Amino acid sequence: MMLSTSMLDRSIQELESRSLARIASAKTREDLEAARVEALGRKGGLNQFSKEMGKLPPEERKRIGALLNAAKQNLEAAIEARERTFAEAALNVRLDAEWLDLTLPAPGPRRGHLHPITRIQRELEELFSSLGFAVLDGPEVETEYHNFDALNIPPDHPARDMQDTFWLESGNLLRTHTSPVQVRGMERFGPPLRMIAPGRVFRNESVDASHEHTFYQLEGMMIDRDVSVAHLIYFMKTLLAAIFKRDVTVRLRPGYFPFVEPGFELDIQCLICGGSGCPVCKQSGWVELLPCGLVHPNVLRMSNIDPEQWNGFAFGLGLTRLAMMRYGIDDIRQLQGGDLRFLEQF
Ligand code: PHE
Repeated sequence: MMLSTSMLDRSIQELESRSLARIASAKTREDLEAARVEALGRKGGLNQFSKEMGKLPPEERKRIGALLNAAKQNLEAAIEARERTFAEAALNVRLDAEWLDLTLPAPGPRRGHLHPITRIQRELEELFSSLGFAVLDGPEVETEYHNFDALNIPPDHPARDMQDTFWLESGNLLRTHTSPVQVRGMERFGPPLRMIAPGRVFRNESVDASHEHTFYQLEGMMIDRDVSVAHLIYFMKTLLAAIFKRDVTVRLRPGYFPFVEPGFELDIQCLICGGSGCPVCKQSGWVELLPCGLVHPNVLRMSNIDPEQWNGFAFGLGLTRLAMMRYGIDDIRQLQGGDLRFLEQF
């Protein structure tokens, strides 16, 4: 059967306009693809007319061929245009969703800050530097000699039990206090000497709210001619005024440490109640703050300093304790716990 050319014309036009309408109303890419298959697909659409064309006389064939080509181009252009509107719509959805207000102030970079203990340590380093003290460092793994013997604590001395020690297999130990840095300072520099030594110390203790196996001390030592307890008190009061930012009343009680003679416990009048008695000072009006004393002649002698010519004072400040007092921290474990929510408060 052969279609008349006028029927062929009309069929082509019908298919073209039907397809154009379908393309125009396609709501999704799937709709559009279905419309494309219908209009330009290999089996259906305009291609079905190409077969008929072969049976036409040459002029007609040419005319219908041109018609088909034009229709094909129209449809392809319509599909392309429709695809563009889909792409634009998708872009607009993204732009709406990912919209940024570039005029908003940016959130500043997150800044860390110093640990409360580091802060106190740095303050005290600055203070003592301004008073002519060198800031010295010593090893955390110490020899028995520097940690004990040279501080007038021989092996069988009962004072060794005052500090439960982590011994290492090598015979060395984790320093139990910063006092061995006194010894290293005297060995290295000789008299006169003004030094402090902040650092980490270790004791084999069970941990609770007020005990840690690892904590911080700040050692101080001054060796010169005719150093007296008055010098010691002067430096301690200067130190405490800097820490607490006000004048503090101090008292000395006798205290025993093998490396000082006389040895003292320095108390400050309670800063909470002003001395009238409260839970912090256990109603006594005083808070024990730091041990100190005049350097024992044996200690000087062991480090080759002549006690007839030189003497000095030494003190050992508990930096961890001080940070707890300054910031009102009631559990020592929090300081090294690594919980940033806790540390961010300071
Ligand atoms: N090193 C002592 C301790 O940790 C403290 C101290 C230092 C005492 C200096 C007197 C003089 O217990």
